[in-house]
Amino acid sequence: MLLILAVLSVLSAVHAQNLTVSVPLSSPSGAPTLSGTLFSLSIEQDGWTDWAGTHAPNTYLVNVLDNLKQRTGQPPWFRIGADSEDRTNFNPAVEFSQTVSSVPSVATPYPEAAAVVVGDGFYQVAEHLPTGPGVNLRSKNVTAVVLEAAAIKKAFDSEAMKAAGVTLKFVEVGNEPDDYGNDAGYNSSTWNVEAFVAQWTAFAGNVSDTGVVNAGSGPKFFGPSFAGISHTATSFSALGVFTQGILNTPQGSLLRTFSQHHYQCGAGEILTDIVVKANIRSNLTQLAPDIAVVQSHGMDYVLGETNSCFSHGVPGTSNVGGIAIWTLDYLLFAPQVGISRAFFHQGIGYKYNAIQPVTLTRSPIDGSNLTTPLPPHVQPAYHAALVAAEAIGSSGTTTSVELDIDDNTVSGYAFYDQGVLKRAVLINHNMFFADSGVPRGVKNIAVDFIGGKGPKGEIGVKRLFIPSADATTGLLWAGQSFDGADGKPSGKVVVDSTSVNSVALHDTEIILLLF
Ligand SMILES: *[C@@H]1O[C@H](CO)[C@@H](O)[C@H](O)[C@H]1NC(C)=O
Ligand SMILES: *[C@@H]1O[C@H](CO)[C@@H](O)[C@H](O)[C@H]1NC(C)=O
Ligand SMILES: *[C@@H]1O[C@H](CO)[C@@H](O)[C@H](O)[C@H]1NC(C)=O
Ligand SMILES: *[C@@H]1O[C@H](CO)[C@@H](O)[C@H](O)[C@H]1NC(C)=O
Ligand SMILES: *[C@@H]1O[C@H](CO)[C@@H](O)[C@H](O)[C@H]1NC(C)=O
Ligand SMILES: *[C@@H]1O[C@H](CO)[C@@H](O)[C@H](O)[C@H]1NC(C)=O
Repeated sequence: MLLILAVLSVLSAVHAQNLTVSVPLSSPSGAPTLSGTLFSLSIEQDGWTDWAGTHAPNTYLVNVLDNLKQRTGQPPWFRIGADSEDRTNFNPAVEFSQTVSSVPSVATPYPEAAAVVVGDGFYQVAEHLPTGPGVNLRSKNVTAVVLEAAAIKKAFDSEAMKAAGVTLKFVEVGNEPDDYGNDAGYNSSTWNVEAFVAQWTAFAGNVSDTGVVNAGSGPKFFGPSFAGISHTATSFSALGVFTQGILNTPQGSLLRTFSQHHYQCGAGEILTDIVVKANIRSNLTQLAPDIAVVQSHGMDYVLGETNSCFSHGVPGTSNVGGIAIWTLDYLLFAPQVGISRAFFHQGIGYKYNAIQPVTLTRSPIDGSNLTTPLPPHVQPAYHAALVAAEAIGSSGTTTSVELDIDDNTVSGYAFYDQGVLKRAVLINHNMFFADSGVPRGVKNIAVDFIGGKGPKGEIGVKRLFIPSADATTGLLWAGQSFDGADGKPSGKVVVDSTSVNSVALHDTEIILLLF
């Protein structure tokens, strides 16, 4: 027994590395202010009523959103849209929604519906959410768009919605219009940014006529929600739409938020590539020219639809413990380049979901029929949202900066309230796999304060324990499990105490330092 312990301590000594992390004691100038809803959700429209619940709220969803709300004071915002948004029509005879399903496959166990028809109840069920979210929509049939816009207005003007405290922030006209290609009467040789701006302006005019958006304090437009990234004046880009004068009409002046879609990767992506610190940075910094153009027009820039790998995620990458590392670093780095909110795309049964809000009878991994259905549950990415929520807190004025860390496997951020250092997040990007036979590495971090003496001795630490990079359950945030059937945490909150001179950060681990 003693011998084994001795061997272990030698191993951990071999793998321990020392690192100094410098943390400014006061908020550096230019540090962005983070919204409590930096982590928000984009919901594939065909499954919206499963998320919200029809005749009664989906209490599982309400509970897991409430966990975030307790930390930031507000639950995530919702965008309701995406692919199936472009296949949605309106029929007042439909109570909630009717979908024409697509055929599941091994690669896509939960495909988007081929067609969706919604009625008034589809929008009204938003009243089931905790307070805060906004809703967006789009369709290509002007008549349908006007009917949908009127139904949205009716739902959000209702007393029930007001009582629920759910507000409509934006209406989106069009999902990934740069990708219309040669479908549905579009021709890629003539469908360009000029044609798009003309069509958007016409449709937005009709939507605006319903009164669902307005120039006062009411809802505004959100868009153009391009899929691709491009920077030129003649392409589907920020510069492209502004050059075409999208803002120069009454309806265009209501476009206040520029939404860009971005997925870091696609099919075949391996976990050890997506989590690389440098890859996360280059994926987001490539947006810098567009963000600058958007901000020069006084508009907000958001990732209106984002996640790890497009087409619902990659098994073994998007749904495992290691993705919590990617999610948190991507989310916290985004404001450092000027992104004010990131809507993580979710569907029913998608591999990259943070939340699986309903029971699944087909495997989200390979589409096989499950003998034991999977009850509603959270996935690893959800835990990143919990950590971010606690790091940001509820002040509404928290600022944050990325820490300059001389290690390509460790990233970190400091958080300030009223300009004073309160918290820091450290993220270890080294992937520790179960059964790899390699011991879990650890960095001993010495915190060095800039601009004064800073706290001495012991500080509080909360850990996101991830059993391994390939684990799908068993994550613990500050000692609590969120794997329970009702979505509420179980267990006691654990705050460790550690010396500022030697903070242990294990492979595939996230810590929140409390100053
Ligand atoms: C790391 O720091 C500890 C003190 O925290 C010290 O005992 C150890 O020698 C250092 N290791 C290396 C490799 O510098
Ligand atoms: C859309 O707006 C145009 C221009 O104002 C108008 O001619 C047309 O009738 C409207 N369509 C609908 C369905 O409201
Ligand atoms: C457009 O939507 C309206 C209203 O639902 C519907 O009656 C009409 O058939 C749709 N037109 C097309 C071309 O799909
Ligand atoms: C697109 O337009 C071009 C030029 O008018 C035409 O040659 C081509 O056949 C069209 N493509 C489709 C898919 O309609
Ligand atoms: C984004 O990250 C992926 C790895 O996840 C990498 O293959 C790709 O080249 C990166 N893209 C950019 C623009 O940095
Ligand atoms: C799953 O079960 C359904 C009927 O319950 C059946 O139609 C389908 O073929 C099964 N799929 C697979 C992949 O076994």
